[in-house]
Amino acid sequence: MRIAVVGSGYVGLVAGGCFADLGHEVVLVDNDAQKVAALESGSVPIHEQFLPELLERHQGSRLTFSGNLAKAVRASSAIFVAVGTPPNDAGEADLSYVESVAREVAGAINGYKVVVEKSTVPVYTSNWVRTIMLRNGAEPESFDVASNPEFLREGTAVTDFLYPDRIVLGADHERCAAVLREIYAPLTSGKYYQRPDAVPAPERANVPPPLIVTSAKSAELIKHASNAFLAMKISFVNAVASICESVGADVQQVCQGIGSDSRIGKRFLNPGIGYGGSCFPKDLTAFRAVARECGYEFRLLDEVIRINEEQRHRFLRKVRSALWTLRGKRLGVLGLAFKGGTDDIRESPAVLLVQTLLQEGCTVAAYDPAAMDRARAVLPANVNYVSDPYEAASGADALLILTEWEEFAALDLPRLRVRLKYPIIIDGRNLYHPETMTAHGFTYYSVGRQTTTPEVISSAGADSKKIKVKNA
Ligand SMILES: NC(=O)c1ccc[n+]([C@@H]2O[C@H](COP(=O)([O-])OP(=O)(O)OC[C@H]3O[C@@H](n4cnc5c(N)ncnc54)[C@H](O)[C@@H]3O)[C@@H](O)[C@H]2O)c1
Repeated sequence: MRIAVVGSGYVGLVAGGCFADLGHEVVLVDNDAQKVAALESGSVPIHEQFLPELLERHQGSRLTFSGNLAKAVRASSAIFVAVGTPPNDAGEADLSYVESVAREVAGAINGYKVVVEKSTVPVYTSNWVRTIMLRNGAEPESFDVASNPEFLREGTAVTDFLYPDRIVLGADHERCAAVLREIYAPLTSGKYYQRPDAVPAPERANVPPPLIVTSAKSAELIKHASNAFLAMKISFVNAVASICESVGADVQQVCQGIGSDSRIGKRFLNPGIGYGGSCFPKDLTAFRAVARECGYEFRLLDEVIRINEEQRHRFLRKVRSALWTLRGKRLGVLGLAFKGGTDDIRESPAVLLVQTLLQEGCTVAAYDPAAMDRARAVLPANVNYVSDPYEAASGADALLILTEWEEFAALDLPRLRVRLKYPIIIDGRNLYHPETMTAHGFTYYSVGRQTTTPEVISSAGADSKKIKVKNA
């Protein structure tokens, strides 16, 4: 099938590359001429596993890039809209990019088209897209609007797209549902997974994925409700972590206990410094605004958001309790991206924390495997960006772990220790066992667990020093 994907950002690029891998002819459209030129020249503007391989595999054959939306619409049967839906000042989704695409699509229709919302949009958006297209001259029979929400996670976006837990098709008419069924048939039939060149399956792949066909409104709600539920799970476990800290329990043990209940599940029970990124924060406020407009005050979401913000303040209090005063302190920071595996720093709790620490008079040496270029554009110029975790630790009063990159969970601890001025690690992502850290001589702060510090016991003499774990 010939497909246009409008918006070549995190979602559009991944969707376009994956649709091409499924065998479709894809044109990826963007109104950012620089981005289109960069893509055409073979550069990949985002950090995402398997994406460079997919783009290279299909570019110039099944995958092309364009700034000309009208031409792409005329050449395609399905138009996926994957433009941004950022929050406005009131926390509602700003749908002006979606509206502008709908207007342009209406002006270019030359036969039956399915316009598919891939962007995360509030319920009723499909009705509005239809209305806008009719107002701009599209014939009622010449198009349908469907909702096909995207559930990919940055960092594992390609495998999430190709090995989804489910595919949701919100279609109010069978003729547009049929088009979407055909597009996803290589996945739902299982044929894609038999190909020797298929992108490798992740753990826990649900193949073939089920197709859930709903009304467009239900699909729009599924996406907002899913993200709100996941954010709630994170805030819930962060609230539990706070209680663990007060009573001396271990939140990792508590999570193991509650996550083993199959009704709850282990995933997303990750205590830390809170969620961030381009989706949860904006989708929660947008969902709350939609609910309010429908006459329902979704106060649960207020609390989810409040706990999330509080989590950063709690972490800052830990830094203070480790170092006493902050002015003039030198901190090593590991991680700037909002999560591991991506270069995305939108609403990153790590970036927000670094901003506060700088305001408090700290100096910061930061390392992130992928997000430093993007961080440079938003953080003050006095951040010192370094080339590895050990350089970040060099001469630092303490080392802060702010993003759960895999490489931060496998550091050479003796090497790290000799680099630090004081052996203090404040881990906002619980990447280590407190016992391991104290055995290596660190005072170790984490989330929802007791702070541990090595106690040097000198019994018979200097060379019989032992280290034992003590709760600080
Ligand atoms: N990033 C994620 O992890 C994720 C996951 C699921 C859903 N979503 C949703 O998908 C949507 C896109 O998110 P994203 O992270 O890919 O955004 P993004 O900002 O990375 O990309 C959006 C792209 O759309 C382009 N664009 C804007 N207006 C355009 C127009 N009129 N014509 C052509 N191109 C236009 C921009 O130049 C940009 O390249 C959002 O609604 C988001 O909530 C995102």
